[in-house]
Amino acid sequence: MAVLKGKRILLGVTGSIASYKAADLASKLAQLGAEVDTVLTAAATQFVTPLTFQSVTGRRAYLDADLWGNEGHVLHVRLGKEADLVLVAPATANTLAKLAQGRADNLLTLAAITGSAPLVLAPAMDGDMYTNPATQANLARLAERGAHILGPQSGHLASGLSGVGRMVEPAEIAAQTRYLLTRDGPLGGKRVLVTAGGTQEAVDPVRAISNRSSGKQGYALAQAALDAGAEVTLVSGPTALAAPAGAMLRPVRSAEEMLAEVLEQAKNSDALLMAAAVADFRPKSSASQKIKRAGGAPQIELVANPDILAAVGKARGKRLKAVVGFAAESQDLLKNAQQKLKAKKVDLIVANDISAADAGFEVDTNQVVLVSKQGVEELPLMSKDEVARAVIERLSSMLL
Ligand code: PMT
Repeated sequence: MAVLKGKRILLGVTGSIASYKAADLASKLAQLGAEVDTVLTAAATQFVTPLTFQSVTGRRAYLDADLWGNEGHVLHVRLGKEADLVLVAPATANTLAKLAQGRADNLLTLAAITGSAPLVLAPAMDGDMYTNPATQANLARLAERGAHILGPQSGHLASGLSGVGRMVEPAEIAAQTRYLLTRDGPLGGKRVLVTAGGTQEAVDPVRAISNRSSGKQGYALAQAALDAGAEVTLVSGPTALAAPAGAMLRPVRSAEEMLAEVLEQAKNSDALLMAAAVADFRPKSSASQKIKRAGGAPQIELVANPDILAAVGKARGKRLKAVVGFAAESQDLLKNAQQKLKAKKVDLIVANDISAADAGFEVDTNQVVLVSKQGVEELPLMSKDEVARAVIERLSSMLL
């Protein structure tokens, strides 16, 4: 998905073995639609070649020799000024020191000080080099000036030692870059609250009543809202998914925990997207000890959980301009969605037919109908990411 279309990234690759991972990073950024101009330092070319980066970005990769080439007097200025973001990954101790001091003795460090684009640094080096007070002071200085420093992580190092110094994985760097480059979207400055996943209602310390929600649709909504520039709080039931970069994750387990978190977060939100599959019932009481098989099948009395959307409706503050509910229906999709629109006093219902094999719970696709007072819009079968983008586009028009 070309979420970074029109964004230009200056990718600086410096002399670390992690530079082989920078090719994967460049590829990921290019796949997101960014125009990636790569500059390799002389040391980086000991590990990787310009051709590697040209092959994955479809754009020319530059070397120090280009500084003195035909475009000589302007190349570094053009690269620096045209960049929407300067990303140095991997960033060695040497390049960090140069950047901290404003030294400009190669194409990368020259380009880095010509523009005013955000600077993102992914350090990679041996553990003792990283913890060295000089490196730490350089990083602190760069952070003070607003540089975004990602990592490094702990783990196996090229020296054979184990410790802190590994470059953050390319997928994570790409995700953080995606977040930083999308702050100027149509939802810029808006706070969007998203719920996702199923709640778990405890029966005893090890067992719970839950449902098949994977969280995929809610997490896709969170990513789409972030891509549109929003600040996102993601209130999530237990899932196997990682929160999108930039989202503020508030993990919860039960419907009551979700209710408390949603009511709190809704006070400072412009929109609520309620994609979570909240258990409608919970055991009246949860056993304090694990229920033993020997005692025979237990009778579990259920009580109704609070309706979170209804509670938000009652306590709706001035800031909350749009409330979007979901409807998971196995029959009479439209009729039930229209009833929920009224009963839950929401501005939009995203209705999915959960009886269809490729829609609703767990799967990667969904087919939804958008139901509002203004009318009904049926969307075709799409990936959950595409459904999320369609919902966020609708939300953007609601928040105008
Ligand atoms: O997580 P996935 O595997 O990707 O699956 C996605 C999904 C099918 C869970 C999602 O698309 C979806 O439909 N979510 C809503 C599921 C649901 O609980 O639907 P409902 O028709 O029972 O509830 C209607 C609305 O009321 C929902 O917005 C729900 O979050 C909300 N609700 C429900 C019960 C409750 N006690 N409080 C609520 O606020």
